[in-house]
Amino acid sequence: MFSEFSEELEERMRLLETIDRQDRTDGTGRDQRLRQITRETGQFLSLLLVNAPAGDIIEIGTSAGYSTLWLAFAAKETGRKVKTFEVSAEKVALARETFRIAQLEDHIDLIHNDFLKEVDRLADIAFCFLDAEKKIYQPCFDAIAGKMVRNGLIVADNATDQFQALKPMINNALKDPRFDCLTVPIGNGEFICRRK
Ligand SMILES: C[S@@+](CC[C@H](N)C(=O)[O-])C[C@H]1O[C@@H](n2cnc3c(N)ncnc32)[C@H](O)[C@@H]1O
Repeated sequence: MFSEFSEELEERMRLLETIDRQDRTDGTGRDQRLRQITRETGQFLSLLLVNAPAGDIIEIGTSAGYSTLWLAFAAKETGRKVKTFEVSAEKVALARETFRIAQLEDHIDLIHNDFLKEVDRLADIAFCFLDAEKKIYQPCFDAIAGKMVRNGLIVADNATDQFQALKPMINNALKDPRFDCLTVPIGNGEFICRRK
């Protein structure tokens, strides 16, 4: 799958990786930083997503669209689409540019709004990548848990590098009888919950 990346896709990914690396050291303000997943995390998401059951594929927290590219690339393999939610107008503009350049627009619906104001529109969710502000992980989990289809996956980023902030949500999910959950030590730590 990864050997089939177009030049445009690879080039945009490399550019976003460079900007993200610079952001972390050059004093760029937190709200302006891209705060992306690692490349290995992107590959992991693609590999998980390509086998997702039927239902919506969603992402909470688009930023400039780096993680969305990994999801959309896998969605394209199976003729599906990713719905990605982003609250910042500045990030939405960057993401639109990303999807246009990478030529993956046909596999992405970019929704400019607070996810928690949009979630009522969703029903059967097959895959959710959760990567927004850490304080909304618990409300996001609560809002989507009952909408996940059997064998659907919730994957939450920053389970190790921001463990303290995520700990209440992680502990609640581990106790939730509807899910099997595990933290995978890849990138910044991916907390995976499978709907039974
Ligand atoms: C860590 S960044 C996402 C990085 C992106 N997933 C990637 O790896 O390329 C978090 C993003 O979530 C957005 N965000 C925060 N709260 C949100 C909300 N309630 N709904 C939608 N997006 C939100 C922020 O504006 C920010 O761009």
